[in-house]
Amino acid sequence: MSTKNKIQILLEKNKDQYISGQEIAKEIGVSRAAIWKAIQSLKEEGYFIESVTNKGYKLLPSNDILSEEGIRINLIEKYAGRKIIVLNSVDSTNAYAKKLGIDSAEHGTIVVADEQTKGRGRFGRTFFSKQGKGIYLSVILRPQIEISGIAFSTVVSAVAVLRALKRFTDEEIRIKWVNDLYVRDKKVCGILTELVSDMETGSVDFIVAGIGININASEEDFSEEIRGIAGSLKPDKTSRNEIIAAICNELFDIFEDLDKEEIMAQYKMHQLALGKTVRFHKDGKWYEGLAQDIDDSGALIVECSGEKLLLQSGEISIKIKE
Ligand code: BTN
Repeated sequence: MSTKNKIQILLEKNKDQYISGQEIAKEIGVSRAAIWKAIQSLKEEGYFIESVTNKGYKLLPSNDILSEEGIRINLIEKYAGRKIIVLNSVDSTNAYAKKLGIDSAEHGTIVVADEQTKGRGRFGRTFFSKQGKGIYLSVILRPQIEISGIAFSTVVSAVAVLRALKRFTDEEIRIKWVNDLYVRDKKVCGILTELVSDMETGSVDFIVAGIGININASEEDFSEEIRGIAGSLKPDKTSRNEIIAAICNELFDIFEDLDKEEIMAQYKMHQLALGKTVRFHKDGKWYEGLAQDIDDSGALIVECSGEKLLLQSGEISIKIKE
C-alpha cells in the first residue's frame, strides 16, 4: 500500500481530530517530508485537509470522496477483507458487478461508482445517477438459496438499507412495496436485485443487489420527469463511504444469519402501503383495492371487491386521498 493510502486511512480513522506529522511518521514509518508530499497529493485529488502548525492534519467533515480505504475502515472487522471496487464513472454498477460475478468474483464483492451513465432501474427505466449526488452500489452475493427464494432477497436488501440509513437520519423511512425507500413522501432509494442462475440445477449462482440512494441532491439536480417524486437524504457530517459500509455490514450480517421472521416483521412494520388503497396492473388489467398484508414470500395481499389478490412482483401506486 502506498504512503498516500496509509495516510488516507489514518486521516479517515481520526476524522474530526488532528493527527500530528510526528504521529503519522511513527505509525507508518516514513519521513515528515514524505508525509507532506502525500498530503499535497491527496489535496490535489480533492480532499479537504486542514494543516495547522503544532497540531497536524485533519480531514474536514465536508470530505465526501468515495474511496476503497474510506469504505473499508467502516466495515466491521469480519468483513474488512471483502473486495471493494470504486469507480469514478461507469455505465451501471449492476452491469459491472454482473460481469465480475460471471468471472467468479467472490461473495461480498462491493462495486461503487461516483456516477453512472446508464444507471438501471426496474422495468427497464433509468435511475438518476449524477456525479457525487448519490450512492450507486452493487453487491455480489452468493447465498445458498433456490430460485424460488429470490423474492426474499429483495426483502432482505430493503431491510438492510433501511437499518443502515436509520443510523444516519432521524427522519422516518418507509418502504414502498416492493423495495423503494421513501422519506417525507419522496423516493430516496431504489433497489434492483438481479439474479444469475444455473439453468441446469435450478440453483442461484449469484445475486447482484443494486442500491441507488440520492444523497445531497437538490430538486434542480433531478430531471423534470422525476422532480415531483424523487427526494434526497442530506446526512450531516456523514460521508457516503460510511453509509456504503453500513449498508454492506447489514447486508452481510443478514445473509450470514438469516432470521426470516425478524426481517419480515421489519419489512412489514415500515410499509407505506398497508391499510391504504392501491392501484396496480396485473395480467393486462388495472385493479384498485386495499393493501392488507404481506405474505411470507414478500407478496402483497390486496383485497379487490371482496376478492384477495396476491401480487408477487410489479409496482403499485398508492392513493393518497380517498
Ligand atoms: C429502481 O428504482 O427502479 C431501482 C434502481 C436501482 C438503482 C441502482 S444504482 C446501483 C445499481 N446499478 C444500477 O444500474 N442500478 C442499481
